[in-house]
Amino acid sequence: MVTEAAKYTSADAERLNAELGQRSAEEIVRWAGETFGPAIKFANSFGAEDVVLQDIIAKNAPNVRVFTLDTGRLNDETYEVMENVRFKYSDIPIEVMFPDHQKVESLVREKGFYSFRESVENRRECCAIRKVQPLKRALSDATAWMTGLRKDQSVTRTDTPAIEWDEGNAMLKVNPLIEWSNDDVWAYVKANKVPYNRLHDQGYPSIGCAPCTRAIKPGEDIRAGRWWWENPEYKECGLHE
Ligand code: ADX
Ligand code: SF4
Repeated sequence: MVTEAAKYTSADAERLNAELGQRSAEEIVRWAGETFGPAIKFANSFGAEDVVLQDIIAKNAPNVRVFTLDTGRLNDETYEVMENVRFKYSDIPIEVMFPDHQKVESLVREKGFYSFRESVENRRECCAIRKVQPLKRALSDATAWMTGLRKDQSVTRTDTPAIEWDEGNAMLKVNPLIEWSNDDVWAYVKANKVPYNRLHDQGYPSIGCAPCTRAIKPGEDIRAGRWWWENPEYKECGLHE
């Protein structure tokens, strides 16, 4: 299986998306598990979409591997849901990836603890060290990856397909919830009693690192609380470019 999967190239992504893109999230996850086995890894941030996907994986493709990127700047509530998920789906180990300590040490020594507030460039530097480089390390033993991306999360995601070619990581990227609405996510969480981050009940629809995420006001865009000082078009941390 794993060696079959390794044969995929960019040309296959469009064909696979045309074939499978309209299927249910459960069917896409089952296909991914059967096709790649442990060679596909799910990036779990423990936000609402990702705990849904964790539940779907546990029920449909428990051979998919799961990892999380611990940036060192997460909220306590995120560690709490991580622990609840670890307990509930105890058959599925969660690989926790930390940033390179030397890079974090020199970043804070040279630029302090809040350099990301100073410019988009500095913010991307922090995201690169704390998220993107650990992601590359997590994917170094994978031939495909899976995410909880949804189209209506952001203007930067409206054209994202269920199955795409990730040029930066040179592998297939599978987004089974891409067509789901926020309501679909929450209906699933409630119906399946999935553990979720308590911050979602406190006005945080989207959760990243603690200093870069705040609660939103009623009527605001769901990512308005992420890097709120930046223009929406720049609000990607580099994981999904
Ligand atoms: S972000 O790029 O702006 O931070 P977002 O929070 O919307 O991303 O999450 C989108 C998807 O990226 C998640 O469903 C998950 O697959 C992945 N992701 C984001 N942050 C992390 C993280 N800390 N660890 C693992 N995966 C993550
Ligand atoms: Fe750094 Fe903020 Fe990016 Fe987290 S979200 S890695 S703290 S810039």
